[in-house]
Amino acid sequence: MKMSQKQSDLDIVRADILAEKVCSELAAQATHLVMGDGNINADIVFIGEAPGKNEDEQGLPFVGAAGKFLNEMLESAGMKRKDVYITNIVKYRPPNNRDPIPEEKEAFWPFLLRQLEIIRPGVIATLGRHSMEYFLPGARISQVHGQPKRISLNDQTVVLVPLFHPASALYNGAMRETLMEDFAKLPGIIDQAKTRENVLKIMTG
Ligand code: URA
Repeated sequence: MKMSQKQSDLDIVRADILAEKVCSELAAQATHLVMGDGNINADIVFIGEAPGKNEDEQGLPFVGAAGKFLNEMLESAGMKRKDVYITNIVKYRPPNNRDPIPEEKEAFWPFLLRQLEIIRPGVIATLGRHSMEYFLPGARISQVHGQPKRISLNDQTVVLVPLFHPASALYNGAMRETLMEDFAKLPGIIDQAKTRENVLKIMTG
């Protein structure tokens, strides 16, 4: 079967990361470059921080404990993992799962933008502050989580929904509830993002 244009464009982004030796120090310690997983025609793209141990081993984002919880939240909101697209801002595992540093996020940001330009989702949901801060500079996640924001990205107007990171809720019941509540809003936001008129009613970030 002929590979879709979108998939071959995404493969070029991957090849460029390798050819340009982006974050070569991280690459040297990583097993896989973890580009993303899911439906490349999705209405929503989730963006986490960086792969962890399991993700590095399998070459897929969110397949460890945080991923299990992400799958649960998707399901409880009536969404299927295979229908959404999931990626990270940083695409190599930082050693010992440390937080990604600004230089690493900056190095990968243009490639994330290219992925989004190819997939063209109506809604982007950031998971945690590391990906949120690039879309909504200066925003505080505790104040804006779960609230749709209209942003300009590439040549598009997109709806951005900042969410807490699923890992932050693994051992915190109150956070778990907050995240579940925010996830439950996503299908309605995805529907709203389908018409330009409705998108324009959403406040900017
Ligand atoms: N946490 C992330 O931010 N991304 C993953 O892929 C896994 C855990």
